[in-house]
Amino acid sequence: MLTSEAILERLKKLTIPGTSTNLVQKGLITSTSVEGGEITLSVASCAMPSPVLNSLERDIKIGLGAIPGVSKVRINQVDCTPSELNRIKNVIAVMSGKGGVGKSTVSSLIAISLKRQGFTVGILDADITGPSIPKLFGLTGKPLGNEKGIMPVASRTGIDVMSMNLILNNDTDAVIWRGPLIAKAIGQFWTDVLWGELDYLIVDLPPGTSDAALTTMQQITLTGVVMVTTPQELAALIVRKAIDMTVKMNARLIGVVENMAYFPNPATGEPIEIFGPSKAKHLAGEFGLPLLAQIPVDPRIAVLCDAGEIEEYNSDIVSGLGIEVIRLLEEPRPVGSSR
Ligand SMILES: Nc1ncnc2c1ncn2[C@@H]1O[C@H](COP(=O)(O)OP(=O)(O)OP(=O)(O)O)[C@@H](O)[C@H]1O
Ligand SMILES: [Mg+2]
Repeated sequence: MLTSEAILERLKKLTIPGTSTNLVQKGLITSTSVEGGEITLSVASCAMPSPVLNSLERDIKIGLGAIPGVSKVRINQVDCTPSELNRIKNVIAVMSGKGGVGKSTVSSLIAISLKRQGFTVGILDADITGPSIPKLFGLTGKPLGNEKGIMPVASRTGIDVMSMNLILNNDTDAVIWRGPLIAKAIGQFWTDVLWGELDYLIVDLPPGTSDAALTTMQQITLTGVVMVTTPQELAALIVRKAIDMTVKMNARLIGVVENMAYFPNPATGEPIEIFGPSKAKHLAGEFGLPLLAQIPVDPRIAVLCDAGEIEEYNSDIVSGLGIEVIRLLEEPRPVGSSR
């Protein structure tokens, strides 16, 4: 007998044109019923331009109509907003306070690591004036959308990305906005983007502890924050401010990542501390936080970032990063700690 579950499984095979996802993953099939040989589906039109929706409806009717015993396929369009459809299990913000320490790189590497473990993952680029995620992933496609919402753009391996640079006509166009507009854009990336069902949404924050970080912590239900630092004392100094802000905003700190921690001697593999001795263990210990990873300076990272191929990067440290994030999030939050 044909069940609603079997119908949903079939619909998962139908890719939304211009994306690498399907209606079910996006939560756009809001109900299914089968009676006799008649199938009735409710499809939300949210974030789907009419031509795309019409062509999908045709494909659904043809696909489901070809199942033996199905006499009719009825489709009702329903009106929903992305927030009503999004089912995001974990939201992890990547922060530093300090600029240029590798927040966007670490955000991407966490997303890649989680994706490789089979999770559904998205990245919300909260750096509205200096967005870098599309560049790292080599994304140039424009998001689909309608007056209700927009769809993220999928990377080659299927990580969903939303970034200001995907919306601008040219990726060199400057966004010259004051704080309230930036806050609004971040809010909209949360409420008006059809993320659908995601296991993890990574939020790449810009430097600083002001508007963008504040909006993210106030408007987005964060599961936790990963703090990125480098070995320099100046970075540690500013990261302390970011940790202080996170604690004051009562967001959960997952741990610290030290980026550019050392350079492995090409001849021996021995770490050369080009930016001085690591301060991250001390910094993490000061706040009772775990040190999630120490990522070396690796010219392959820089080359792959520049080529828009960060998803090609392989390293045990990066695989371990995702595993460690999941493990720590599963632990109960220790009472009275910033974790
Ligand atoms: N571990 C690393 N090894 C080599 N290059 C790196 C490493 N981490 C980051 N980079 C490079 O350093 C540059 C800055 O990194 P990234 O953009 O991730 O920093 P950011 O903290 O997000 O900067 P911003 O404050 O501008 O948002 C990038 O070009 C990236 O390729
Ligand atoms: Mg960045």
